[in-house]
Amino acid sequence: MSERVKQLRAPDLKEMKRRGEKIAMLTAYDASMAHLLDRAGIDVLLVGDSLGMVLLGYETTLPVTLDDVVYHTRAVVRGASRALVVADMPFLTYRIDASEALRNAGRLLQQGGAHAVKIEGGRPVVETARRLVEAGIPVMGHLGLIPQSVHQLGGFRPQARLEGDARQLIEDARALEEAGVFALVLESIPADLAGEVSGQVAVPTIGIGAGPHCDGQVLVSYDALGLTSGPIPPFVKQYAHLGDAMVEAARTYAQDVREGRFPAEKGK
Ligand code: KIV
Repeated sequence: MSERVKQLRAPDLKEMKRRGEKIAMLTAYDASMAHLLDRAGIDVLLVGDSLGMVLLGYETTLPVTLDDVVYHTRAVVRGASRALVVADMPFLTYRIDASEALRNAGRLLQQGGAHAVKIEGGRPVVETARRLVEAGIPVMGHLGLIPQSVHQLGGFRPQARLEGDARQLIEDARALEEAGVFALVLESIPADLAGEVSGQVAVPTIGIGAGPHCDGQVLVSYDALGLTSGPIPPFVKQYAHLGDAMVEAARTYAQDVREGRFPAEKGK
């Protein structure tokens, strides 16, 4: 009989930080990838709205809808058994008002089966984060480069380089913690600032392009596994080149079909 693994929950991440255990998070968008990453012991699977760029070919995450994320979250939840599954709330699904945010986050948990949601931004989303948490929905925050604001930021650029912006980011992190978020993604900010934030909040920080001092790290799985065809951010480490392996395998298959090597006759 196979042993049942313990499902990670949002409060477990805070415990991991307390014990000094680093948190490994990757994005996942479907059941088969979720199953493989879960088998590998990845702690958190993020159904990121990056799915719009990675899977659907959009230039930004803005066209991604709540229905898209519900659909992909359902698949990821079916594939994972240990990892905490966090669903991204897409552009404008939590910024209009807190009631709408609550209804939309509720769909990600009820229909998608997510264990938590992630929202981008500082001060403007603090009260919304509080409302979601009060309703029993675990919320992950996201500060620094917030891709849903790409047009306002002028591109996918490093953030909080100036003293005033860095101070604001620290205040935002504290306000989100006070509102009840269980973790914070810090994207594309200086490593020393990420270290300072990590020291000032009790909730774990999960860095992406934010240096080594965070309590965990996240990468877009397609970037880390070498499945992305276009350019990848400079901070990404590629742990495999699965895209090249797939092209090679498909090329060999096509040659085998064309030259009659596949299928082989039975017994030969
Ligand atoms: O959508 C996403 O994949 C993300 C990560 C890059 C943190 O928000």
